[in-house]
This record gives sequence, C-alpha cells and structure tokens, in this order.
Amino acid sequence: MCGIVGYLGSKNAAGIIVDGLAKLEYRGYDSAGIAVNTGTELEIRKFKGRLAVLADDLEKNNIIGNVGIGHTRWATHGEPSDVNSHPHFNKDKTLAVVHNGIIENYLELREQLESEGIEFKSKTDTEVVAHLLDKYYEGNLLDAVYKTIGDLKGAYALGIVSAEHNDELIAVRKDSPLIAGVGEGEAFIASDIPALLKYTRDVIYLDNDEVVHIKGGNLKVYDSQRNPVDKKINHVDWDVEAAEKGGYSCFMEKEIFEQPEGIKSTLERRLNEEGRIVLDDINLDKEYLESVNKIYIVACGTAYNAGVLGKTAMQRMMGIPVTVDIASEFRYNENFVDDKSLVILVSQSGETADTLAVLRDSKEKGARILAVTNVVGSSIAREADDVFYTWAGPEIAVASTKAYTTQIVSLYMIALNCALEMGNIDDKYYFDMIEKMKEIPAKIQEVINNKDSIEHIADDIVKKEHAFFLGRGIDYSLAMEGSLKLKEISYIHAEAFAAGELKHGTIALIEEGTPVISIATQQSMFDKMVSNMEEVRARGAYVVAISQSHNKEVEKVSNKVIYIPDSEDLLSPIIAVVPMQLLALMVSTKRGLDVDKPRNLAKSVTVE
Ligand code: F6R
Repeated sequence: MCGIVGYLGSKNAAGIIVDGLAKLEYRGYDSAGIAVNTGTELEIRKFKGRLAVLADDLEKNNIIGNVGIGHTRWATHGEPSDVNSHPHFNKDKTLAVVHNGIIENYLELREQLESEGIEFKSKTDTEVVAHLLDKYYEGNLLDAVYKTIGDLKGAYALGIVSAEHNDELIAVRKDSPLIAGVGEGEAFIASDIPALLKYTRDVIYLDNDEVVHIKGGNLKVYDSQRNPVDKKINHVDWDVEAAEKGGYSCFMEKEIFEQPEGIKSTLERRLNEEGRIVLDDINLDKEYLESVNKIYIVACGTAYNAGVLGKTAMQRMMGIPVTVDIASEFRYNENFVDDKSLVILVSQSGETADTLAVLRDSKEKGARILAVTNVVGSSIAREADDVFYTWAGPEIAVASTKAYTTQIVSLYMIALNCALEMGNIDDKYYFDMIEKMKEIPAKIQEVINNKDSIEHIADDIVKKEHAFFLGRGIDYSLAMEGSLKLKEISYIHAEAFAAGELKHGTIALIEEGTPVISIATQQSMFDKMVSNMEEVRARGAYVVAISQSHNKEVEKVSNKVIYIPDSEDLLSPIIAVVPMQLLALMVSTKRGLDVDKPRNLAKSVTVE
C-alpha cells in the first residue's frame, strides 16, 4: 500500500511531490511526509494524518529544493504517528528513504544494526533501510543502494535521496508497484500513473529488481546485477479529467455514475462490426480450451464477488465446472493447479499482493494465466499470459464500483466466447446475450436517474448498527457485494446471508427494525426469496426489496422496494448492484464520513 512520489529537475520539488501524493492518497492516508534536498541538507517534514496536514505546513513554510521524495502511508509496522511516518533517515539525516511494501527480515536486520550501536526512532520496518544505506555509504549512493538491497527480503518500492548529492535520486522496485516518468530535463518516480499525469505522460514501467538511477537530467535503469536495461518509454493517453472529481461530491459518486460509460467501453473495445467478441490477442481457441482440465477464478474482495458471477456464467454457458477462490486462501490451500489449468485472475489495480502471488505460483506450476484487470501496465497485466482489460477508466475511490460491473461484463464476454468456441451455445444465444449486455448501460442509467427514491431508505438505515443482505444463487453473491459496500464506507456492521441458510441459525439475529436488504432478481428463485422475506418481516425486520419492476409481489413482504429494469437473470446483478452502491454512498455521506477514504483501508492492497 502507501504511495511514493519522487522528483528531480529544475522546478521546486515539494509542490510537485505533494501534487502527486494527492493522486495517490487512495493507497493510504494515515500520514504523509517529504524529504527535499535544499542544497545544503535534507529537510524532512512528516505528520500523522491526511496529506492536507503536510500540505498546510508547506504552505506556511515551503521547502526550497529541486530533488525530493514523498510518501503517503498505510501503516503496516508501527501505528500511524509522526515518527513512524516516512521518509525515514539515518542518524545524521543525510540519507532519506520512502518505502511501499514490507521488509520481511527487518527484525533480524534491526537486531544486527542495534548490536552495531544504531538507535532506532520508529517502529517501522523501513527504518532499517535508512541505516543500512548509511552503513554501506562510502561516497557513491548507487553502490550503497545495491549493497542495501542485497540484505533485504520482502517486497519494496523505495525512493532514496541524499544530502550530499543534490542531483541524484534513486528508486528500486521489488514486488511493489513503481513507475518512472520522464520530462524535459526532469524525471519522476511514482507508485502509480495519476501522480505524474499533470507533469508528464511518458512513463517507464519498471520490472522487479530494477533500480532507477536519476542523475542530473539523465535516467538510467539497471537490473539486479547492475547491468543497464534498455527500457521502453510508454506514452499514456489517459484523460487527466478522468482522474479528477469533475463536480461530483466524491470519487465514489462519480465512479457509480460512470458505470454506463464504463460498461459501454468494456463492450466496445472487444466487439467488431458484426457484433462479435474479438479476443484475437487472447489464447482461448477451441484446441486450447479442449486441453484445459480446470478453470480457476481467483481474486480478492469486490473482484472476488465479480468472480463468483463469472463462475456462474461460465458454468452455465460452457457446461463445465469452474471454481472461484479468494486469493489469500487459494495460495495456501491444496489447489491442484497444473499445466492443464486456466487461471483467471480478476483485479482492478493489477497489484493486489495475494492475487499476484497466485499468478506467480500458478505460472510456476505451468498454468496459463488470463488477467482481467483495469490498470494497463500493472504487475498482473504484465506477468499474465493474456490480458482482458476492463477499460473502466481510473478508479480512485477505495470502494470499488465501476471496476466491479465492468469485471462482470468482461467475465461474461470471456464466457460467451469460450462457450461458442466449444460449441456449447449457438449463435442465437451468443448474439442475444450480447444485445442484452448492450442494453445494460441504459438500464443502469435508469437506476441512477431514480436515485432519489433510495434517499429515504438511507435515512431509515443511517442510525442502525447492523444490516443484513439476503439473496439466493447469484443474488447471494450480489448480497456479498452489497454488504461489503455498506460496511466498508459506512462502518455499519453488514453481513450477507444465503437466504436458504437463514433458518439454520442466522434468523436469531433478526429483531425489531433490523434492516434486511433482500435481493430477488432471479425469476427461478423468486417465490422462495419472497418466503424468506416474509419470514424476516414476521420477526420485525425492516425489509428493503430489490427486484425487477414486474415483480410487484415483493411489495406485500417488504417495507420499501427498489425496482430495477427487467433483464435476463444472469445480467440482473450488474444492474441490481447499483442501488446498493448508491445506498452505501448515501448512508456514509449522511453519517458525515469520508466516503472515498474509509478508515483502515487503502485502494491497492500490495501487502499480504
Ligand atoms: C472493495 C474493494 C476491495 C478490492 C480488493 C481487490 O470495495 O475495492 O475489496 O476489490 O482489495 O482489489 P483489486 O481488484 O485491485 O485486486
């Protein structure tokens, strides 16, 4: 987690670094800090709290200098505090480092350094890096960096500056995201592209174990053996506006509203003039599919919830078993992946540590890896055999919305394509489904246009401590996503239950006024779902039904109803999730919380 920005050029570094960090706050925001070489020394400022605390301090008293590093933190070792904030430095404050990741052997290194007389100030794993740099520094910063990383185990993206070198900035990437940016006589490092867009669109995607050496106006990249590496400069054509709020109250609201466009773009990027799905760049032809003995979908959090729907679509369309797993469980369980497995990894950021670990482990076992991801050039995208980009545009809010709906559409497109290749569906089913998927953006727009009807439900829920989400079949996976959205941004304890399991224990939790969001979009399960709603209502629950507009029966068993436009059973969840996203957004706003930056969370989970 954590965000890193570094700058070296002719402009004042502090402003550029803070600007960049503001675009990375989604990665962590419990503290922020900066180190700038003023020409005579390193000036380091760091504070617990949001980036605004640091920005205010700099506004009152800026640091003047042309080279520096900055950090926005999501604590792993040591509580959020001024002293645990980055940058960390050596005893004389002549070397400073910012770090994203975890140094796994830091305890061992710390003991060793302490036995050599070093006094540690913080509780972080990162501080060992600053002291190791000091230990190895003999006038050449790059030499010291190589010796230091030789001692480190774990995941790290590092940015390093020194007081003695006013024209030098070094960065290292190992298992944590890092890119470099190139401008006119200036260079940058950052954890992610949005941090640099205001200043440059020319970026270098770094690979593992690479070291970036910026000296004067020159940027060089070296591998682990210190051989120069010839890196491609990629031009990023993202819309800067797309990474800004654009008049919405928060990024989450903007991203919910962007779903119709996002889904259109997911579809359009892969449909040809005849309306067929084009996966030319992805090896999923008949011969390959016949050689596959098992399909695994693996992901975390919301991406996992999308994966559950992907599994259902694949099983229904392709007629073969597919498993879906949480990455952090999958990697430590007996998973039977082998060279005949197709492993589909779903990840918005393409950087999630557990998902990336599954990628590497499965690749080693000979499996083919297909990534469904949003971030071009992310680690998962680069290391996978094939990539299906979701093209949702940048997702900044911690709570995932447009990534989820576009991931489902992507997985459905993959399912349709494979099912057709395998001869399990005919052209009619294939084209019908594509036509129905094309109708989803307009249907989501309808839900968004009716958002005021959700407002009074949010009023009823805002003061509650618990809420439950019920569903059957794919509505259960949707209930999981609805409850995740509500809990992560409103801090109301929310849980999803398979409606059929209610009577096996859970129903004991229902009391007078308990909100129960009941999703009934599956025609085949509709009557059973209505019975479950009746059961909880009879026990005093405040029932909110989400169902298609023709299912008027739900009105008899619920306190409030949110209708969604009619749609195919498989496609309904993509529409039905939107009112739940809006409900979570409204409840969080009414509770006065920071919707985009919920406590304890970070957008990109790059540690296990
Ligand atoms: C919840 C949320 C998380 C992510 C999860 C995986 O709203 O955003 O649960 O879905 O951390 O992240 P990615 O998709 O980047 O691998």
